[in-house]
Amino acid sequence: MAALSLYLLLSWVFLLSLFRTGFAEALCHEDESSALMEFKRRINTTDVGQCINPKVHSWSLDGSGDCCSWGGVECDEVTGRVITLDLSSSCLSGTMSPNTTLFRLVHLESLNLAFNSFDFSPIPYGFSNLSRLQYLNLSFSDFSGEIPHDISQLSELISLDLSYNRGELLHLPNMGDFVHNLTGLKKLDLSFVNLSSSLPPILANFSSLTLLGLSSCGLNGELPVSIFQLPNLEVLDVVGNSNLSGFFPKPHWGSPLKYLYLSSTNFSGEIPTSIGNLSLLNELKAGNCYFSGSLPSSMGNLSHLTMLDLPKNNLQGQIPVSFVNLTQLSKLRLYSNNLSGDTLEWIVNLTKLTDLDIADNQLSSGLPSSFENLKQLRILYLSHNKLHGNIPSTLWNLKNLQFLILGSLNLNGTLDANDLFKLKNLEDLRLSHNNISFTKTFINATSSKLAYLHLDSCNLTEFPQFIGYLSKLVVLGLSHNKIQGTIPRWIWNNRKESLYLVDLSNNLLTGFENNQTNLPFPNLKYLDISSNLLKTILPIPPPLVELYNISNNFLFGEIPTSICEVSSLVVLDLSNNALNGKIPPCLGSIGPLTLLNLARNKFHGMIPRVYPNSCTLKMIDLKENRLRGIVPRSLENCRMLEYLNLGDNQINDTFPFWLSKLAYLNIIVLQSNKFHGPIEGHLSQLNFTSLHILDLSNNSFNGKLPSKLLGSCHAMKVIDGQDKLAYMSISPLINITYMIVGVKMTYAMTLMNKGTERKYEKISTILMAIDLSCNKFEGFIPELIGDLKSLRMLNLSHNFLTGSIPPSLANLAVLESLDLSLNNLVGEIPQQLASLTFLEVFDVSHNQLSGPIPRGTQFDTFGSSSFAMNEGLCGSPLPNKCTNGDNTPPPPSSFKVDHEEESLFDLDWKIMLAGTGVGFLVGVVLGNLIIDEKSRWFLHSSKRMAKGWNR
Ligand SMILES: *[C@@H]1O[C@H](CO)[C@@H](O)[C@H](O)[C@H]1NC(C)=O
Ligand SMILES: *[C@@H]1O[C@H](CO)[C@@H](O)[C@H](O)[C@H]1NC(C)=O
Ligand SMILES: *[C@@H]1O[C@H](CO)[C@@H](O)[C@H](O)[C@H]1NC(C)=O
Ligand SMILES: *[C@@H]1O[C@H](CO)[C@@H](O)[C@H](O)[C@H]1NC(C)=O
Ligand SMILES: *[C@@H]1O[C@H](CO)[C@@H](O)[C@H](O)[C@H]1NC(C)=O
Repeated sequence: MAALSLYLLLSWVFLLSLFRTGFAEALCHEDESSALMEFKRRINTTDVGQCINPKVHSWSLDGSGDCCSWGGVECDEVTGRVITLDLSSSCLSGTMSPNTTLFRLVHLESLNLAFNSFDFSPIPYGFSNLSRLQYLNLSFSDFSGEIPHDISQLSELISLDLSYNRGELLHLPNMGDFVHNLTGLKKLDLSFVNLSSSLPPILANFSSLTLLGLSSCGLNGELPVSIFQLPNLEVLDVVGNSNLSGFFPKPHWGSPLKYLYLSSTNFSGEIPTSIGNLSLLNELKAGNCYFSGSLPSSMGNLSHLTMLDLPKNNLQGQIPVSFVNLTQLSKLRLYSNNLSGDTLEWIVNLTKLTDLDIADNQLSSGLPSSFENLKQLRILYLSHNKLHGNIPSTLWNLKNLQFLILGSLNLNGTLDANDLFKLKNLEDLRLSHNNISFTKTFINATSSKLAYLHLDSCNLTEFPQFIGYLSKLVVLGLSHNKIQGTIPRWIWNNRKESLYLVDLSNNLLTGFENNQTNLPFPNLKYLDISSNLLKTILPIPPPLVELYNISNNFLFGEIPTSICEVSSLVVLDLSNNALNGKIPPCLGSIGPLTLLNLARNKFHGMIPRVYPNSCTLKMIDLKENRLRGIVPRSLENCRMLEYLNLGDNQINDTFPFWLSKLAYLNIIVLQSNKFHGPIEGHLSQLNFTSLHILDLSNNSFNGKLPSKLLGSCHAMKVIDGQDKLAYMSISPLINITYMIVGVKMTYAMTLMNKGTERKYEKISTILMAIDLSCNKFEGFIPELIGDLKSLRMLNLSHNFLTGSIPPSLANLAVLESLDLSLNNLVGEIPQQLASLTFLEVFDVSHNQLSGPIPRGTQFDTFGSSSFAMNEGLCGSPLPNKCTNGDNTPPPPSSFKVDHEEESLFDLDWKIMLAGTGVGFLVGVVLGNLIIDEKSRWFLHSSKRMAKGWNR
């Protein structure tokens, strides 16, 4: 029996070897091996990108030279023809020659060159030679240029993948033509090919398609619903086509979809109940779209779902309890919607969850203590909801947690610091904007991976002690608390070197323990201790610091010159202290300095010069000091300058006309100094193209109003039709170990109006203002001022202006405040001014005007003081009647009022006054809010609108 079976086995082995030798005769053909060798000769292999195995290294004509045995090559067993070439991840690099010898392998059925780097050379023309090709994969290979049209003749193609050739994109001018004959395709992936067109309707006939990948193709138009009916479609990916709109099919999905990716498109409408029929669906990604309505309960039927990603939509209503059945779910992201719900109990059944992000919604539950069932949880984002109550202690049993983000939740209670040390993997803990405190004593100060700790706005009254034991801490946020006393030394114990960002701003801190002014943070890049009660000399910023903000304290003494050794400074804000002495001249030579704010101190002496070519400053604020001398001409090296505020000093100079060279200058404030002389006493060409705000008030400028300067303010000549308010800001980048933090700093300023100071914490990019008041200007108001159509505020008061008020002022359609008082103006008030529907402050008092006061719209709201001390004016609101009948009748309301227009003088508000018939907008100018009974309801509703618009 044993012998017999041995015999059988042997003969089988023998037969097998016969079989093999019988067919291995079909060696590869010489023309094909030489074509391959030529290909190898003309391409490089380097260890770049996705390099795994340089298969061509095994290719050689030595020995048998049988190319069928070479790496990546497969031949037909019978004919010996090369039918498959798989050189994916083969470390190929260099350009592919246009007459590549690959096109001689005319029997090829499958060609894969994915994951190589062809240096952004074009895909060669000649694929029509490979008429048997069924699989072509040129993805992730750094090809660029136009896709050769002859690929479209490969009518045998089953799979075409040209995706992810990023960088210089591939492009395809006419996709409809291109796919016309490729009707047998099962897989088509053109992701990151620039199509710039709508989806060709013909695709809806491609009944074999199982995968359609078109992410980031610049698609526009609407995705035909018929795509969702393709009978075999399992994967649809159109992510990142922001101009592609579409809707989910309501009644019927024909496709057996498993992966549906639509994020960052223009898709909108509701998620229909029918989505519950996609019983095979594994992943649904549709974040950052415009879906609205509620999540249908039928989604609980998607029993294969592992990822549900719908953040940043307009979804509302409850998260359906049926989600309790989505037990395969590992990633659930619904953040930044309007979802509500008073229970999260259903979540605790989703035991496979690793990522849960439902932050920024309206959820109002408490945290269920059974959260501890979610043993796999790595990422938990719940912030910005209306959760409340305590943090359940069971949360600390989630040993895998890396990110625990619980900010802005109305949580309260005292946390046991020992618990934090139980989460050995925790890297990021955010508890800002809650009402919590920490137990004082703790025992288990074991090692911790915690790198990011945010405890801003937590109502803390002291530094939590456990912070001293976090040896890996990188970011520490403790701003907006009520922490009192001195900053203890232990706060930087153990982890001096790890710390990159410390924010202690807005507390009640009075100084440093032991009066230390030498801050031992060797790697710190960002230090904000602003808005405290620090009463000390200026601490020297740590050596590598890029942002140093210690404004709004009670610092005294001088700035030591050693500050300039901190040569990495990008932002230096020492404003609002009591610092004195001279500004160290070396400050002008700190290379990367972008923002310099020394406002509201007691500095005296000259403004230091800046050193040629090294100036990167965008903002200089020196206002409210005691600076003298002239404006250093070297400032013209600061080519990036956007904001220059030298107001409230004692600068004695003529107008620095050379500022005109600074092409980005938005804001010039020279107010309340000793500037003098005419502004345009010379011939030079002025060019203040970008100027938004010019404040020269309270100086001794004389001569004519600067027509050339005003005529060059091109930004003031166009009304910006932007629909969102943006604020003037700079965003310096601060390097913090693994990340670059963009610090957005909005410009602030004050404008004077009629003796009241108005503070602007933010300055809208569409706020345009000119203040030339309180100088010695003479002559006429130039007609061309009417070209500055986007002006919101114009103040020429308190000068020696003569002549009449130019009617062209009526072109300033968005003007909110016009002050011409205290001049020598004559003639009538142009009736056209009645068309200025935003005008809320108007003052022509103390002139020699005459004739009737215009009537209608805003003019009916101005009090008599606006017109006082003009001998010849008559009509309402003045007591003296006009002799020629009454004031002229109100002008016809022919103008169209744009309700989208915003008033800028209070940027968080949008106030509308309902007139009789004519709706018109009135700015909340300078806080002089006018509310009458009629408009109160309107005020109310517009407040709500303003909120919606802020979101
Ligand atoms: C291969 O690399 C060499 C050296 O970098 C380069 O000169 C050559 O042009 C490359 N060949 C191709 C085909 O890109
Ligand atoms: C490919 O074209 C180049 C020039 O364009 C030529 O020098 C080379 O001989 C051609 N090679 C083949 C194999 O035809
Ligand atoms: C499609 O194929 C037919 C026949 O092979 C050919 O005549 C026609 O030009 C092709 N159409 C396109 C758009 O390539
Ligand atoms: C969960 O699925 C089961 C079985 O299909 C069903 O009976 C139950 O109603 C579902 N639960 C919810 C809350 O929809
Ligand atoms: C959810 O989990 C709870 C407790 O773990 C269990 O009693 C309940 O049956 C589960 N619900 C469903 C629908 O699986």
